[in-house]
Amino acid sequence: METPSLELEVSPEVHAGQAVYTRWTLRLLYDVGVLGYSNRFVWKCPTPTQLEWYNANVSANHLDVGVGTGYYVARCRYPAPSPRLALMDLNANSLERAASRAARYSPETYRRNVLDPIGFDAPRFDSIGLNYLLHCLPGSMDEKAVVFDHLRSLLNPGGCLFGSTLLQGDVPRSAQARLLMRLYNRKGIFSNQEDTLESLERALHTRFKESQISLHGCVALFRARA
Ligand SMILES: C[S@@+](CC[C@H](N)C(=O)[O-])C[C@H]1O[C@@H](n2cnc3c(N)ncnc32)[C@H](O)[C@@H]1O
Repeated sequence: METPSLELEVSPEVHAGQAVYTRWTLRLLYDVGVLGYSNRFVWKCPTPTQLEWYNANVSANHLDVGVGTGYYVARCRYPAPSPRLALMDLNANSLERAASRAARYSPETYRRNVLDPIGFDAPRFDSIGLNYLLHCLPGSMDEKAVVFDHLRSLLNPGGCLFGSTLLQGDVPRSAQARLLMRLYNRKGIFSNQEDTLESLERALHTRFKESQISLHGCVALFRARA
């Protein structure tokens, strides 16, 4: 495990996008509230669908970014019994929780703000997963898409970057989804007011050899190849 870095300097908007993930919310609220309830009933892309997407794309040399409670990295089916697993997050609580949940894979951990260029001197990865990270990052899709540039440099040639994110614009959103998104955007927990399907398509298409997006409720499941 990497030595914990000193406190990272980030803007108030970047701070707000990760501040809600305390030890308490990660232990007691996230899996029940988000993975159990919101994914199925509010965003309309149940967690088993997202886990299947993870299973379909994860490799035996994998980096997960924006790890939360580590649900997907602990539960997914790796294509080898002893995969290399690395975890990257700005929030030390998320890293700690996910690393303990996936301890059987002895994960490497990296504390990074993915909106900044990512200092990294370990071997690259064959797959990178980012579930529910983009909608937590401030700025327009064009601005936050800089994370694709930063992460692409950590992928081996032909490697796969995949994940999920909550969109607005013309995607179908229940009344509850509209209400919750408005509330979370007001608090800075989400910053996805300008995240549309078209802007995500453009961000991936301009950076990767091939890309693909499918919509489930207001959740985009995406995949791109370097
Ligand atoms: C909504 S949680 C996603 C958890 C998990 N991937 C899932 O799909 O359930 C977002 C995660 O992204 C992290 N995060 C937010 N902003 C970040 C940033 N600028 N750089 C790195 N990680 C960030 C948060 O700390 C949190 O762990």
